[in-house]
Amino acid sequence: MYSYPLLSSLVLCQLLSSARADTPVKLGGYSYVSKGPVAFGVLASNAVDSSGDTIGGIGSAMTIKRGTWSALKNGSFTGTFVMHPDSGPHGDLDKGYQTRQQEIEFVLTPYTGSSSLSLSDAKKTLSLAYRKTLLQVDVDGSKLSGVDPSGTQSSTTSSPALPLVSSSDPRLTIDAESIAQDVDGTFWMGDEYGPYIYHFNSAGQRIGVIQPPRAFLPITSQGYVDFSSSSVTGRVGGQGFEGLTMDHSTRTLYAMLQSALIQDGGVDSDGKSPTLLRGTRGSWLMQWRE
Ligand SMILES: *[C@@H]1O[C@H](CO)[C@@H](O)[C@H](O)[C@H]1NC(C)=O
Repeated sequence: MYSYPLLSSLVLCQLLSSARADTPVKLGGYSYVSKGPVAFGVLASNAVDSSGDTIGGIGSAMTIKRGTWSALKNGSFTGTFVMHPDSGPHGDLDKGYQTRQQEIEFVLTPYTGSSSLSLSDAKKTLSLAYRKTLLQVDVDGSKLSGVDPSGTQSSTTSSPALPLVSSSDPRLTIDAESIAQDVDGTFWMGDEYGPYIYHFNSAGQRIGVIQPPRAFLPITSQGYVDFSSSSVTGRVGGQGFEGLTMDHSTRTLYAMLQSALIQDGGVDSDGKSPTLLRGTRGSWLMQWRE
């Protein structure tokens, strides 16, 4: 199904990335101008959240909470980011670090001048204030983890195969890379271990999962789904649904992989990941409707 606003924003990114600064791009009757980076915000690297844990490598997945964005009369904008720390396959998170959403309020005051700002003035362009943390749990209430999976739960009649911490630690493990809020307040979260799209209620409990077609799944040379192995087809390790958005008028989700599937070329030999937006080789854009 064609959705104009969402596709237009993807196309727009592509157009803007190849446009010179201040070159207007016309699309759908609007004129867009790339001003380059216009704001800069900082959180202390040792900041902790309300659970006492580090806030994490924040912003792996982020969205603006619905209903919070507002343009102030003085030229600033305010809102609340909903953000996830990154997990990833690098063993940089303790397996006890529970999957979580952080809420951070912001005041954005875009700077489009040409003279350099001092660091302290630059930091005022995006002021950030931590507000709260929502620790997330699975369908059965068990805590979720973010470590690289070394176990796989086989599919059942009610669930597709799922990545687990390990064969002796059967917690679902998720690496949040993208997030979209639904009209009912629930959240859809794009992940790179599946790659899956998980559905969470506003209390932080998982209420569903979307498994993409088998071509996306990590399949071994023996033909099994195995999230821990070096797969021969499917998503490239560490390169799942890094982009996710929803057309609220039709409740259609659009998800995009970070790179082409292995069988479609995977990543370059230098480890770079060709994507749709870079336009070097096809990545996948998928859509789901309930
Ligand atoms: C506009 O007002 C908000 C709220 O008082 C403030 O945080 C922000 O810095 C102001 N922006 C400008 C450009 O003065």
